[in-house]
Amino acid sequence: MQAVLIEGDGIGPEVTAAACRVVEAAGARIDWVKAPAGLDAAERLGDPLPDETLEMIRRYRVALKGPCTTPVGKGFRSINVRLRKELDLFASVRPVNTLPGVKTPYDRVNLVVVRENTEGLYAGLEHEVVPGVVESVRLITKPAAERIVRFAFELARNGGRRRVTFCHKADVMRLSDGLFLECARAVADEFPFIAYDEKPIDNLCLELAADPSVFDVLVMENLFGDVISDLCAGLVGGLGVVPGANLGGRYAVFEAVHGSAPDIAGKGLANPIAVIRSAAMMLEHMGYRPAAEQVERAVARTLEAGVGLTRDLGGDGTTATLTEQIVRHLGA
Ligand code: NAI
Repeated sequence: MQAVLIEGDGIGPEVTAAACRVVEAAGARIDWVKAPAGLDAAERLGDPLPDETLEMIRRYRVALKGPCTTPVGKGFRSINVRLRKELDLFASVRPVNTLPGVKTPYDRVNLVVVRENTEGLYAGLEHEVVPGVVESVRLITKPAAERIVRFAFELARNGGRRRVTFCHKADVMRLSDGLFLECARAVADEFPFIAYDEKPIDNLCLELAADPSVFDVLVMENLFGDVISDLCAGLVGGLGVVPGANLGGRYAVFEAVHGSAPDIAGKGLANPIAVIRSAAMMLEHMGYRPAAEQVERAVARTLEAGVGLTRDLGGDGTTATLTEQIVRHLGA
């Protein structure tokens, strides 16, 4: 089976190489088709997200992607935002669960953040009104709002989850989140067998800090989802361990929550677990469930054993030592 591989920038090539090694060791026969994206593609091909890369994903339907650097405030638009819009990857899914051996103030965390990926403040609708005054449009449309909430309920139903929480700020953004809230309530009525509740986004942050184990599926708009995903990663061990997927009706791009980590790039210090677990999500999506479960188990056993872990996990190992440990535990 073929799948597209985007190595990305910074630590991207290091962590995606680790993921490919683990996938191969798990016995899943993936024929990786490398596609350019990121700073290197911008320099060599004049476009950080070349058409050929989009074409490859359209052809093979699935991709594993390393993080891509986006220069702040100038230069090209975020590759990730473009990729999600071009391929209509409307749902970002980040499973956040307590991992064995990873010390955090919380245990029994097992939630999923579902983020709307195409609209909100990340729709890219910004303009300068007059010098010194800029406006960003927070776009919310009924079809996209209903689609993401329905996706969250279907994910809950198919994954044996019991509750969906819609997160918003409708008391302040009365029109935009007002519409989103209305859509969420209408879709919730279609799923009477799954509990539904609503949470203002600031309350959600407070409650996540107090006891994240009470949440199940969280669904929200783009900017809130971006922030909450990182916050939730912090609850269970940090950006190095949380996987992710960007899913649409046709295509799926799997990637970690973290970025290209320029501060540690090229030093062999990056934790590959987030991308390895993203690859496991990809395997599951492609129908290789046993291999996906095997990878998840090997990651859990490696963390439990606590040998060869990278610095972000309190160890003194490297990307290579951690990858080797995961491979070793695959057969255990
Ligand atoms: P970042 O996630 O790259 O790094 C934040 C901190 O976490 C850094 O201290 C970094 O060393 C650490 N970190 C991240 N991943 C790690 C890993 N696997 N192992 C160990 N430590 C890790 O976020 P930052 O610095 O805000 O962004 C850097 C660049 O990445 C920016 O250009 C940003 O636009 C881009 N980015 C790309 C994403 C993507 O392609 N999906 C997502 C987030 C950011």
